[in-house]
Amino acid sequence: MTPSALLGALWRDYVASTPQAERIHRLLAARGERIRNDHVALRTYGGPIGIAALARPFEQLGWRPRDHYRFADKHLVARYWQHDDPELPKVFISELVLAELSPRAHAIVDALIAQLPGEFAQRADLPYAGRPWNLAFAEYETLLAESEYAAWLAAFGYRVNHFTVDVGSLSTFPDLQALDAFLVEHGFSLNSSGGLVKGSPAERLEQSSTKADAIEVEFSDRSERVPSCYYEFARRYPLPSGELFHGFVPSSADKIFESTDVGRR
Ligand code: NI
Repeated sequence: MTPSALLGALWRDYVASTPQAERIHRLLAARGERIRNDHVALRTYGGPIGIAALARPFEQLGWRPRDHYRFADKHLVARYWQHDDPELPKVFISELVLAELSPRAHAIVDALIAQLPGEFAQRADLPYAGRPWNLAFAEYETLLAESEYAAWLAAFGYRVNHFTVDVGSLSTFPDLQALDAFLVEHGFSLNSSGGLVKGSPAERLEQSSTKADAIEVEFSDRSERVPSCYYEFARRYPLPSGELFHGFVPSSADKIFESTDVGRR
């Protein structure tokens, strides 16, 4: 496995549940853009597959661990990894702090983790292994009422939550606002909760994203259309040293969708 083979596998898995990402990718390529990713984001519950287990396949290919983060309001811890090859995206992995969930939600997640096959955590394809458990739609809804993150992971399992385009490497858009306007013109809906653009030049990072696609998901009792993934766009600014900022900031970290979106798509 090479870094580009792993990223290719992640991308194919991601666009299978997020077709808008492939359409946007093609639209930008048709303008002559060569798209470079800023980061890919993955999620986990902790337990036998924590941040370290999910990072292992990336570390084996040369990604090096960088800063840790705590997003208290979303009950998450996170870390990112960077590769010596600047063409390769950063890898952002977050983990839900299960101890901060309600007893009811915690019990549902424990029951999912209990279904993990032996040795699952050691799979070389863990970052795109998919969903190794069954759950009822009511369990998904219970999780969703408390944490969009917990519900998404229950429904989709181990795979990329989003790819993020590096806006600074685009040649035909002066800034993130111009890219956002282009996407809206082409019929894409952007996530506007808390404003279209999260973050600021002062924070050295601005990000926007599409609204999540929705796809049919098989639950143990029925199949339902639920939000899958969004496509994200990031513009980075230099630090006083002149070097580009490569970290993440809470105000522009991975966004949530409103739970009322479920069933309306
Ligand atoms: Ni992100």
